Amino acid sequence: MSAPPKTVLEATAAEAAAIRAAVRDPDLAALGEGRALAGPGDAEALAELLRDPAVSDPIYDLPRPITAENIHAWIVACEAERDRGDGLLVLTRDADGDLISYAKFSVWPERSAAELAGATRADRQGRGQGGAGALRSFGWMFESLGVRLIGLTAALDNVRSARLIDAAGFVRMGERESVRPDGAVRRSLYWEMTREAWLAR
Ligand SMILES: CC(C)(COP(=O)(O)OP(=O)(O)OC[C@H]1O[C@@H](n2cnc3c(N)ncnc32)[C@H](O)[C@@H]1OP(=O)(O)O)[C@@H](O)C(=O)NCCC(=O)NCCS
Repeated sequence: MSAPPKTVLEATAAEAAAIRAAVRDPDLAALGEGRALAGPGDAEALAELLRDPAVSDPIYDLPRPITAENIHAWIVACEAERDRGDGLLVLTRDADGDLISYAKFSVWPERSAAELAGATRADRQGRGQGGAGALRSFGWMFESLGVRLIGLTAALDNVRSARLIDAAGFVRMGERESVRPDGAVRRSLYWEMTREAWLAR
């Protein structure tokens, strides 16, 4: 289950309301090409993407087991999060309409904070695209969603994620226990970045 950052910020009511409004009506064009909110009609394609362990194994907050039914329920739950203004599930398709990645934004408006999880289709991993997409997403979370803090986790052995998160300038803050929806606990590396630090880079 997504967990808010270790650092606790307090948003004013106006700030939290602005974040919720940005999540409800996200500027996906600013996030990149081919982006769209996931809808129930995407369940089969998203399940197919996530069935590949090279895509889903490193991610703790996905529904398990990965079946079209469970993914359908997850998409519906993410739509409810968007209605509340505290979560978004965004899919990226290529020019042929094939699903190539997903991104899940979890947002805590009252804490002006957010988390990002996501994955790229296996044949597109390791080519610099994930790193570039992640960088763009971090900027979008600070500037378009308007949060002041991002917390990230990665499995202890997830070298690619750790490299790209370090390279983006996030500060390592030890480890934390991530709880999967099936109750399993995974130890994760943990990082944070403030908007101030992001803008000063
Ligand atoms: C994590 C993920 C999004 C990264 O995207 P990507 O396109 O594969 O990564 P990139 O090609 O941009 O590379 C990221 C970094 O890892 C390095 N890297 C790439 N392949 C590597 C490998 N096999 N071994 C070690 N380092 C590797 C890159 O050099 C880069 O580091 P650098 O910026 O210091 O050069 C993608 O691999 C993925 O979807 N993985 C499965 C799901 C996952 O782990 N999600 C993240 C959970 S936190």
